[in-house]
Amino acid sequence: ELHRIPHPPRRLPLLGDVLGVDRRTPLQDSMRFARQLGPVFRRRAFGNEFVFVWGARQAADMADETRFAKHVGLGVANLRPIAGDGLFTAYNHEPNWQLAHDVLAPGFSREAMEGYHAMMLSVAGRLTGHWDRELAAGRWVDVPGDMTKLTLETIARTGFGHDFGSFERDRPHPFVTAMIGTLTYAQRLNSVPGPLAPLLLRQAARRNAADISFLNRTVDDLVAERRASGRGDGDLLDRMLETAHPETGERLSAENVRRQVITFLVAGHETTSGALSFALHYLALHPEIAARAAAEVDRVWGDTPAPDYDQVAKLRYVRRVLDESLRLWPTAPAFAREARVDTVLAGDHPMRRGAWALVLTPMLHRDPEVWGPDAEGFDPDRFEPRAARGRAPHTFKPFGTGARACIGRQFALHEATLVLGLLLRRYGLAADPEYRLRVTERLTLMPDGLRLRLERRRPAP
Ligand code: HEM
Repeated sequence: ELHRIPHPPRRLPLLGDVLGVDRRTPLQDSMRFARQLGPVFRRRAFGNEFVFVWGARQAADMADETRFAKHVGLGVANLRPIAGDGLFTAYNHEPNWQLAHDVLAPGFSREAMEGYHAMMLSVAGRLTGHWDRELAAGRWVDVPGDMTKLTLETIARTGFGHDFGSFERDRPHPFVTAMIGTLTYAQRLNSVPGPLAPLLLRQAARRNAADISFLNRTVDDLVAERRASGRGDGDLLDRMLETAHPETGERLSAENVRRQVITFLVAGHETTSGALSFALHYLALHPEIAARAAAEVDRVWGDTPAPDYDQVAKLRYVRRVLDESLRLWPTAPAFAREARVDTVLAGDHPMRRGAWALVLTPMLHRDPEVWGPDAEGFDPDRFEPRAARGRAPHTFKPFGTGARACIGRQFALHEATLVLGLLLRRYGLAADPEYRLRVTERLTLMPDGLRLRLERRRPAP
């Protein structure tokens, strides 16, 4: 039934819908097509046809776990050479998914989160130390660069007891460079005809292989270090190495542990870094929103130098700022769903078992039928409890959906709310008047080149 789904009007033979698209911005090109073509549309790239869904009604229907499940395709499938059957890239039927999910889920419980809090706070202290020096020197701060340092150190410390020393380096840690290399390569694979990829991307493929072996080596060292030193303190790596499945007694294999460590180091920092960066962009653009958020931090935290776990959870307005940023720019901007049975999507699109479509979250989050005519505007009050209760379910999905939704959601939200609170309390954020939002894509989204000027707001406690 594909023929009933609209596609871009100027379709080229062999190449497909390539007019006016840029291989560096597949997501933003899809957003443009979405606006032209409506809630369900398709794009052809070379021999392959991809269906996109973003209408609230259709996306909500795809959240039905009895008829749909995660599909490992496109960008996610391209990460299999790196992350294999790790949690994020595992096929639904692979036994290591359930095993690792059951073993690692307690690492994301509320108690576990409370345990990470002090470490998160200490890493955030390295960020404010760095920003204090930038402020004193009157320099711009590099927002995506510094947020990436922060989130990498946070997941490395809390998850693996490891310190990459990011804040002591001028350039990104080589792990980050290799990771960005592999993410960018995985995205590029989608923009060339599959059979020609080895030819067209020969050089890039060689770099990618080098990047992958660097990631593997880093992780193997980290695991060897832990095995040599004995136990961490019940962190994720301990769980991966020591914990047996509560019912079957099974453990993760050494190969699978490597896949999981890479998965968590990558999934655990890249998207949170983007979310913090977009939030800071919008806060700098909207001083009245920043003032309201800062006033909340002052009220809830008072003068305490070290807010505790609950004091972070109480920053309701700061959290809304974060939600609103993730609405406009969900930093993992799409997820794929496949039909588990022959079914009809939202009453009008028949799908065979195994057929799949991409849910285009940034457009779902801008559907005017849900978010109103000003859906493009930044307004954290959309997430006030009363407004949120009035909205249809499954219309805000930055963390995906169902059994394969993000395991790190609470981790990311706690970390990001804590950091925004600390920054809002300490600094005034001045936007660069020349800056226009440019979003770079490497499977994830990031505000490219965003820099801010800081003002001192209160003396260091
Ligand atoms: C899965 C988004 C932070 C670990 C996902 C998915 C999304 C997502 C959309 C589902 C992907 C799919 O259906 O194919 C985000 C965003 C984050 C974030 C927007 C930050 C703002 C984190 C953090 C961690 C993490 C901090 C780890 C500490 C994972 C893992 C999965 C996942 C392991 C795979 C879960 C499974 O399939 O069982 N994330 N994530 N994420 N995320 Fe996150």
